[in-house]
Amino acid sequence: MTEKLATRCVHASELVDSHGSPHTPIYTTTTFKFASTADLLDVVDGRKAGNLYTRYGLNPTIASLEAKLAALEGAQAAWAFCSGMAAETALFLTHGRKGVICLGDAYGGTLELLASQLPLLGIRTHLLLGDDMARLDAILSEGSELVFLETPTNPTLEIFDIHAIAKMAHAHGAKLAVDNTFASPVNQNPLALGADFVVHSCTKYLGGHSDLTAGALMGATELLAPVWNWRKNLGSMIAPEIAALLARSIRTLPVRVRQQNDTAQKVAEAMGQNPRVSRVLYPGLPDFPGHALARKQMSGFGGMLSIEVKGSGEDATRVADRLKLFALAPSLGGVESLVTQPCTTTHHGLTPEERTRRGISDAMLRLSIGLEDADDLIADLRQALD
Ligand SMILES: Cc1ncc(COP(=O)(O)O)c(C=O)c1O
Repeated sequence: MTEKLATRCVHASELVDSHGSPHTPIYTTTTFKFASTADLLDVVDGRKAGNLYTRYGLNPTIASLEAKLAALEGAQAAWAFCSGMAAETALFLTHGRKGVICLGDAYGGTLELLASQLPLLGIRTHLLLGDDMARLDAILSEGSELVFLETPTNPTLEIFDIHAIAKMAHAHGAKLAVDNTFASPVNQNPLALGADFVVHSCTKYLGGHSDLTAGALMGATELLAPVWNWRKNLGSMIAPEIAALLARSIRTLPVRVRQQNDTAQKVAEAMGQNPRVSRVLYPGLPDFPGHALARKQMSGFGGMLSIEVKGSGEDATRVADRLKLFALAPSLGGVESLVTQPCTTTHHGLTPEERTRRGISDAMLRLSIGLEDADDLIADLRQALD
């Protein structure tokens, strides 16, 4: 991998067809023809690479996307999925059956899968918050085989030390998986820091336009190989049309994310000066607790930030409802700015005590910064706060 990220995003793995298309065409077919049974068996038995059946991922559009996804994270291999949750489920069922430890806050669907559903299958799961870190070593020594974390976390933007945690997991023979959705491969490459797997909800920055749902898992070929059958038989394959749409979006990923980093920094600084805001959580602010670590392991601070409105949860709801450019919608990473109030969306299912334990106040608003002009976004926040 000699080329820089922006070049890889545009050129990696494009399959140029006989008509001279500069990008991989969309092969929508579910199956592929063979000249003979011997040729078919070569592909079925894995003696030859080839196209076979789209649900298996043996489809040129999907294979081309996967090579691009691997190139984004500097991984040997990548599998694409129909959603981020599908990627996580296949990972946990393949590499987490002896126990999964989730460190820190995570996406609500991930927490539900780990807390309520995997235990139904007899899989031990442990959910530790940042201040439980001291227990990680002891729990690892009981035999859990996978540590999973997001960094920065949702919605408090807590930063975990990927290198140090990977070392601790490896010392116990466990693996580390990092959900890199919030940072995107533009700002952080967990595999280079020692993680074994990277998971993405491609629905977010990789897709980037709030118009597709997809997921990805990246890592070493040997570790990804056993995930293939789970994906195949869970039927959680990405559709070729979505694979092409996602590859299209990845070509502009660095331009989008670097602009979002820049605008988020400006919005965070402006909110820090606003008398109606009591706290700004953004890794790019020098007084943010995770700033030094973020500076060490990230190359940009991302497009996500949270603010705490001075006042009650109802006051924060009123601010969210009065925003005009920020749409009230529970996602992130798109070209349009979004706002959510975690206590009414992502963390609505938790008790107030549990939210407090996680540092999530009712007056907190999470902002996903899009590609609008920074001045307009700041003006919109000011009018809503006023
Ligand atoms: C950090 C993170 N990981 C995973 C997911 C799940 O992704 P998807 O909605 O694509 O299944 C989400 C969804 O919001 C997320 O925010």
